[in-house]
Amino acid sequence: MDDSVKSAWEGLRGLPKPTLKDLFAADPERAGKLSTSVALAEDAILFDWSKTHLDDAHLETFTALADAAGFARHRQALLTGEIVNPTENRAAEHTAQRGIGKEESVAQAQAFHARMASLVEAIHKGVLGDVRHLIHVGIGGSALGPALAIDALARDGAMVDVHVVSNIDGCAMEQAMEACDPATTMLAVASKTFTTIETMTNAQSALDWLKSSGVDDPFGRVVALTASPDKALEWGVDETRILPFSESVGGRYSLWSSIGFPVAIALGWPGFAEMLEGAGAMDRHFAETDGADNVALRAAFADQYYTRLRGCQTRAVFAYDERLAMLPSYLQQLEMESNGKSVTADGAPVGAPTAPITWGGVGTDAQHAVFQLLHQGTNLVPVDFIAAIEPGHELGEAHHRILLSNCFAQGAALMAGQSDDDPARVYPGDRPSATILLDALTPATFGALVAFHEHRTFANAVLMGINPFDQFGVELGKQIANQIEAGDVRFDSSTEALLAKAGISK
Ligand code: F6P
Repeated sequence: MDDSVKSAWEGLRGLPKPTLKDLFAADPERAGKLSTSVALAEDAILFDWSKTHLDDAHLETFTALADAAGFARHRQALLTGEIVNPTENRAAEHTAQRGIGKEESVAQAQAFHARMASLVEAIHKGVLGDVRHLIHVGIGGSALGPALAIDALARDGAMVDVHVVSNIDGCAMEQAMEACDPATTMLAVASKTFTTIETMTNAQSALDWLKSSGVDDPFGRVVALTASPDKALEWGVDETRILPFSESVGGRYSLWSSIGFPVAIALGWPGFAEMLEGAGAMDRHFAETDGADNVALRAAFADQYYTRLRGCQTRAVFAYDERLAMLPSYLQQLEMESNGKSVTADGAPVGAPTAPITWGGVGTDAQHAVFQLLHQGTNLVPVDFIAAIEPGHELGEAHHRILLSNCFAQGAALMAGQSDDDPARVYPGDRPSATILLDALTPATFGALVAFHEHRTFANAVLMGINPFDQFGVELGKQIANQIEAGDVRFDSSTEALLAKAGISK
């Protein structure tokens, strides 16, 4: 570890840790100082980090750490398409999908988007026949983003009814088949590599279902979304319906590429384009704002504070918005697959905790289930609350007023705590939270919210000196599953006994 990085961490470890109560008492301007509004074309998003323990001394020393860790240089490398994933010798060019990046990469993304827009518009115009349903098959980054975006943005009526199927468990595919009429169903096969066993098995089952349901040319209904177009062609997809994207777009960062095809199918192309623009506005904020005014970097300062200076092993996210119920699952992949590492980008042991476990739920449901632990448990869990000022429904205003009051009440209660003569009724307080408040949940604010989390994840990785863009940790289990399928390797006695009991040993 570089000496200046080491000394910034030492400086951070030595700082006093005042309570939230003390921090607010010492500075009446604190709420305003640690709240930043990022303006998009129409709406804005407020990022309020004042109920975290970041004080001036921590902000200053974290800023020194970011400088020592070369944050500006790493950010520049990310946003100009340099190699930022050294173990795979790749760039990470998701922002090029939103217009920010190396010129050739932005031009290529635009050309791929134009191809995708034509196919989306052709489908909506009925050029490919009557299309009422789309079964989107993909897993991990090839499913979580589209599923989240559609659930968040297409509740008021999707142009085409989309079913995202990820799990290899046939129950998932059967459910989609039951909901769709094969005569009016298209199949999108989404896989960056076009080799993922779950996706290819599900795709084959969906094709077989189309065929056995009387569809003459099942492959005529297939669209491939992939960075491996040759493999899609080989599998049988017609070249005109292969929507490629660049190898330099990581799976968990691929919503913005052709992996977002089902989102464009559900919302229409203008909605998808608006999502890209919202993400682009956040990219510009991230690119152009220095130090703790950069909302993603400031959030990463707080993340590092809790993980490395306060020993928090988890962080929780609660969207007080039913439309964002899938956000914790999406963020779990983004944050844990990116930063759940034990070595630095140079391959040295990291020597300190990396990504906490991301978990969460939807408010107010979670209040009646898991908040007991947040208020009185022995784990300190930093919480993010996310809400939109404009309601997403047309029921009476009481719903939204109660929803938002509860959201803000939880942050206030976690921080303030309450004393009582009865120990069982004591709330210790001084428990941190951050609040992200959207003017409204639109494709643009949604895009910006997701891009904020991508940049926060990257900023955390830079502060820890790790590579957020590989994911070798997922490989060993896949290899062993393949060995089990092949039946040519023997395992430990527990695994052998389980295989025998389930009747699948070979
Ligand atoms: O196994 C993990 C992973 O490689 C993820 O990173 C990725 O999003 C997912 O599998 C799906 O991969 P693909 O898009 O290549 O099918």
